[in-house]
Amino acid sequence: MKLLVIASLSAAVVAHDVHLNARQSGSSSTATAPSSASRSGTSSVSGTGAATSAATSAAAATPSGLTTLTFTPASTNPTAFPLESITANQSSMPTIPLASTPAAGETPPVSLAPPLPDAAAIAPASYPSMDTRPPLNSPEMDQWRQEVQNSGVPIPSISPTVAGGCPTNPQAVADNSRCWWTCSGCTRDTDISDCPDKLTWGLTYDDGPSFYTPNLLNYLDEQKLSATFFVVGSRGVQFPHTLQEEYMKGHQIAVHTWSHPALTTLSNDEIIAELGWTKKIIKDVTGVTPNMMRPPFGDIDDRVRNISIAMGKSGLTPVMWSRMDALHTFDTDDFDVHGGLTTSQQVMNNWNAIMGNASSRDSGFIVLEHDLFEETVELATGYILPDALARNPPLKIEPVIQCLNKPMSDAYIETNDNSTNPPAASGVVTLSSGAPGSVQATGEATNGNGAMGLSSPSLLMVASALAFLAVSQL
Ligand SMILES: *[C@@H]1O[C@H](CO)[C@@H](O)[C@H](O)[C@H]1NC(C)=O
Ligand SMILES: *[C@@H]1O[C@H](CO)[C@@H](O)[C@H](O)[C@H]1NC(C)=O
Ligand SMILES: *[C@@H]1O[C@H](CO)[C@@H](O)[C@H](O)[C@H]1NC(C)=O
Ligand SMILES: *[C@@H]1O[C@H](CO)[C@@H](O)[C@H](O)[C@H]1NC(C)=O
Repeated sequence: MKLLVIASLSAAVVAHDVHLNARQSGSSSTATAPSSASRSGTSSVSGTGAATSAATSAAAATPSGLTTLTFTPASTNPTAFPLESITANQSSMPTIPLASTPAAGETPPVSLAPPLPDAAAIAPASYPSMDTRPPLNSPEMDQWRQEVQNSGVPIPSISPTVAGGCPTNPQAVADNSRCWWTCSGCTRDTDISDCPDKLTWGLTYDDGPSFYTPNLLNYLDEQKLSATFFVVGSRGVQFPHTLQEEYMKGHQIAVHTWSHPALTTLSNDEIIAELGWTKKIIKDVTGVTPNMMRPPFGDIDDRVRNISIAMGKSGLTPVMWSRMDALHTFDTDDFDVHGGLTTSQQVMNNWNAIMGNASSRDSGFIVLEHDLFEETVELATGYILPDALARNPPLKIEPVIQCLNKPMSDAYIETNDNSTNPPAASGVVTLSSGAPGSVQATGEATNGNGAMGLSSPSLLMVASALAFLAVSQL
């Protein structure tokens, strides 16, 4: 097993969704020497160790990963930037305007959906400040808190974790009854982690809309592809027209919190506020309320799960991404190119390993990718999607709701007739197959960054990356 050396604090702080993973005692991974920590003089986040798969066959300091491809993509986009030029802090891709700006009153492509609201009527002052924890005292919060209580879903009294993820929460990690996905891969029957049908990819993008989302939307449109967008509520306030365009082009919209915190660290009320405001901005912008959510960093336990399921009439069903085992998830690690933590070539090698694993499993799969940064969008439109579309045997690429063989109308409270997608809180929870600590290890292992520690500085830096986006548009 090769080791991936975690780079310095400056790099580690922008680490994203995978990095709460714990070292598993008894697993074959071992802690890496915190060599780069001493370089940076800051050891608080570094050196927590990371296991790599065959996908990550070289270790290096900043950035970690190969600078050569270990495979030949089945196809690439002829207009793509050269892979080696897609690097940290790159700014060469022009941001393009939306192909169209949907008008208020237009009819959405979802049966029974109400007419599209007026995006120009979205007043940022009516929402919490962008990229901050929403306040807990508001009429909206009073209503959502009541709805959670009225749902009848028991909210377990699990104590919040402390910042830092698995490495700083040994007791919580050892407590299998929490079913903390991040640190054990534990899932419950209510979680969606895979698509049921072999070689079916539930295409998802997190953290947008962003300046670069229109580029992605154009490519998806050209290729007649649809995706699920896990929207950060603050980005919905910032880019309401882009959010409308996603929805009107037939993509699925789902919740990814207001300010992108690690949800297991929050109080019940703070979780309710993060989810509630994100549901609200999406409803205000699109006219419909999503019934799926993805926890930032994949950070979910039974408390966060049941609060999600108890949110409002239909609840929010958690959507994770596929895993081969506790340490190896279907994460391209695309997020880390922007911060210089990995290379574009490594992301593509990770992708190729995911494809290899996908072809060997009986079910379909879900992969973690982002539409937040230029680099992530360039990799998606230039390399990952063209390769995916040219693979043989072919992949079926669909939004999550459709990969579950359900119509798009099942994805929103206002349009769901409940016949094929009953509300998450309606007693569907049976814990039998999700026994405490069990891992839904249907498949896959790939990229290497599964075991990096996440610290509060990293959360702050993700927040400030998001806040930077907010400021730079205004
Ligand atoms: C979560 O809610 C379900 C009902 O939806 C319940 O059966 C289960 O016991 C709850 N989990 C915990 C840990 O309380
Ligand atoms: C990216 O740019 C920021 C702001 O200029 C800088 O602080 C950071 O070090 C850069 N990151 C990398 C990996 O070059
Ligand atoms: C998953 O991919 C890795 C990297 O290519 C490989 O080492 C591993 O054997 C694969 N696992 C399965 C079950 O296909
Ligand atoms: C579906 O279930 C939700 C939640 O119970 C309810 O509010 C809604 O009216 C139901 N829809 C239909 C068409 O029955």
